[in-house]
Amino acid sequence: MAPMVVDLILCWWLVAASRAQQLPRPSLSLHPSQGVSLGDPVTLRCHLPRLAAWVWLYQDGGWLYPKGKEKEQDAAEFSFVSTLRGQAGRYRCQYRVSESAEVSVESDPVELVLTDLRYPPSSISLHPEQHVGTGTNVTISCWNKDYGATFLLHKDGSSEPIQRQDSSGGDTATFTLFGVTPADSGTYRCSYRPWHYAFMSSPLGDSVMLEVTPTPAPPGAAGSSRGNLVVAVVGGCTAALVFILVLIIFFLLSALRRRTQRDESPGAPPKKPETMEFQVFIPSSGDNSWI
Ligand SMILES: *[C@@H]1O[C@H](CO)[C@@H](O)[C@H](O)[C@H]1NC(C)=O
Repeated sequence: MAPMVVDLILCWWLVAASRAQQLPRPSLSLHPSQGVSLGDPVTLRCHLPRLAAWVWLYQDGGWLYPKGKEKEQDAAEFSFVSTLRGQAGRYRCQYRVSESAEVSVESDPVELVLTDLRYPPSSISLHPEQHVGTGTNVTISCWNKDYGATFLLHKDGSSEPIQRQDSSGGDTATFTLFGVTPADSGTYRCSYRPWHYAFMSSPLGDSVMLEVTPTPAPPGAAGSSRGNLVVAVVGGCTAALVFILVLIIFFLLSALRRRTQRDESPGAPPKKPETMEFQVFIPSSGDNSWI
């Protein structure tokens, strides 16, 4: 019973939390979403869940770009025709609807990373070798000559870098792919972000190929704990709802049955409700406890 109560409270909290927010959160997107080089044009688009008259774009520790519209819009675009170093950074947007002074919460941040083609590309090497069997630990090392940096490991076909790491002491970062599977086969490259320029990137460097041949998988493959959590919460909410439904149906049915029994008691002559009340509430003559 206790887990059921916790579930009910959680369900109630989820519903309450989703209603508490008056103005829903906007979302910010980058176009193009990545691979923007210094000097390229880029557009930040703030998507508004409500028609809004005023929209602001903030750069963390940098500029504020306000935008007022004659007409209410469901999106606002902020375009940089030719990007500058100072425009690389983390952005958020926010809006206000015209009929109220209330301002929305800020969107989740979006990072504008600019590639500076003047940074020499990163070198890369792979260990132990290009062809390995399932379950092998593969390490990929990335290095550059003169920059202390944060290195990022990219896999062709993935839009986001798959790992990131600060160079350890020297100018090298070592990424380990533990217990590789055939899904890890592919082409890998590195880029890096120099110290003090967290939103400036080197171009992608040379590539290494990894081919993983399938062999019987090692036991204990890692499960997705986040997926499990979602399944648990959804399952819990469903169970709580079903439980409530069953309770309601049970009470309705038993109320109905009691009524049917009262109305149609077999063998007994039909009684008027007054007669029944008389029988229930008037004590028998020998019962002293009623007097
Ligand atoms: C891979 O690395 C992990 C963690 O360091 C280690 O426990 C495991 O034995 C390694 N596997 C192989 C096949 O070397």
